[in-house]
Amino acid sequence: MSAVTANAPQTSNQLARPSLPQVDSCTVIIFGASGDLSKRKLMSALFNLACEGCTGRDFNVLGVGRTGMSDDDFRAQMRAAVAGASDTRDFTDERWKEFASRLNYLTGDPSSDGVHEEIATRLDEMNQVEADLTSRNHLFYLSTPPSVAGTIIEGLGAAGLASEEKGWSRIIVEKPFGRDLESARELNEKLARVFGEHQVYRIDHFLGKETVQNLLVFRFGNSMFEPFWNRNYVDYVEITAAETLGVGARAAFYEETGALRDMIANHLLQVLTLTAMEPPVAFDADAVRDKKVEVLRSMRPMTSAEATKRTIRAQYTASEVNGERVPGYRDEKNVAAASQVETFAAVQFQIDNWRWAGVPFYVRAGKRLNRKVTEVAVHLKRTPQALFAHTHKGESNVHDIEPNIIVMQIQPCEAIRISFGAKLPGVEMETATVELAFNYEANFHRSSPAAYETLLLDVMQGDATLFTRRDEVEEQWRLITPIEEAWAIDGASPVVSYAAGTDGPAQADALLARNGHVWRTLNGDPKQHR
Ligand code: BG6
Repeated sequence: MSAVTANAPQTSNQLARPSLPQVDSCTVIIFGASGDLSKRKLMSALFNLACEGCTGRDFNVLGVGRTGMSDDDFRAQMRAAVAGASDTRDFTDERWKEFASRLNYLTGDPSSDGVHEEIATRLDEMNQVEADLTSRNHLFYLSTPPSVAGTIIEGLGAAGLASEEKGWSRIIVEKPFGRDLESARELNEKLARVFGEHQVYRIDHFLGKETVQNLLVFRFGNSMFEPFWNRNYVDYVEITAAETLGVGARAAFYEETGALRDMIANHLLQVLTLTAMEPPVAFDADAVRDKKVEVLRSMRPMTSAEATKRTIRAQYTASEVNGERVPGYRDEKNVAAASQVETFAAVQFQIDNWRWAGVPFYVRAGKRLNRKVTEVAVHLKRTPQALFAHTHKGESNVHDIEPNIIVMQIQPCEAIRISFGAKLPGVEMETATVELAFNYEANFHRSSPAAYETLLLDVMQGDATLFTRRDEVEEQWRLITPIEEAWAIDGASPVVSYAAGTDGPAQADALLARNGHVWRTLNGDPKQHR
């Protein structure tokens, strides 16, 4: 995360990307290289970075996976993936040829003994073949299930690959980081036995999203928002990650995970901490993460009784999403007919600290909803006096100005919207809700880099600000594990259902309604509430 600032955008050359830093060359070793993440995200991110000249002359990739393949097979597979990936920029045969010459593959079960020695040998060979043109810096990327992460880490240690004698050695561990507090602690201990914390990068790709990082700039780069960013003015906060996609080919993974572990335990808790944290003393990895951890530590794990009241879990049933007929979750391939796994979860968190006491933070995540939208909405309290409350002609209900809402839209539209009341033109005192909007693309005339690009570059530069620290990941599970345990109690929190293509289950509305609050609708109309 480089801290470059820009003034108002200029009108010339607006489509050009700002120049990216060039980092020390390294060899990226991807475990699970033929997997979904590698194909959809990692390769296109590396391709873009290499084409922009960020990765340096001696950059190489070594894919490791169980699928038996030659280097050329691997290159062909990755070519198809990169050419078709939505994040890839300026794909040409010439650029691909240059990038492909840096791709290598090693067939081996990442969790088996011996494969790490083979990796070490292969890295040495690459180094000799290239006559010292291959970097001695190693970036290991664990794009594998958490169950095999421990074995890979120990294997790397035994093969001497964590050593930083000849260059740096860093390891990126993909989410989910364990599946509960205990397994996360075990994984952290295994990592600590082999790598120093400065070498470990627990990735959460939401932190690489431009608008998520902008939460920090919005809050701590401006003085006007801070005075009301607290319990005196804020009524409640909503954090939403709604998707239209179902579980697709990932059903087996999802059956083990569910929406709470997949989205809330990491991505949305991270967004929550950035929304709620105190100002850090500096903009560096430890200062920022210290403040994020404080937020998590201020949240009490729920008792089973609290979890029953403050959480909702639900599954989609067959219906239509964007005009397309889709099956219900239990009818998806590789999903158990009586599966209890949630595809939607909503949780009311409380932050017991001076700033936020009494302000509910409602978090929801779901698949097969009406629209893809990820956003944070901060709802301010009503004015103390309803000075402009009035009765509309022909209607009996009294209308007051709607409370102000600050919406930080993370995707698909990257924007910040602030709604407020204004007088309607005319002789009578009638009011309407209007909004001030800042839109990234319209303002800067360029699109944001993909999250994985930003984060890979950060690791290559040794900047851990946007990565989850050991204590942070454990604090996250300290809050999530009791909810999972409460859900496991028979009949305590039954899985309810929602039709695909809707805003989620009615029970999620009821969660807010009892406090007099409402979710924003997912349909994109910022003024419309349910
Ligand atoms: C991943 C989850 O971490 O994030 C997926 O495993 C989810 O289930 C995805 O679809 C959402 O990410 P994004 O960037 O598309 O919002």
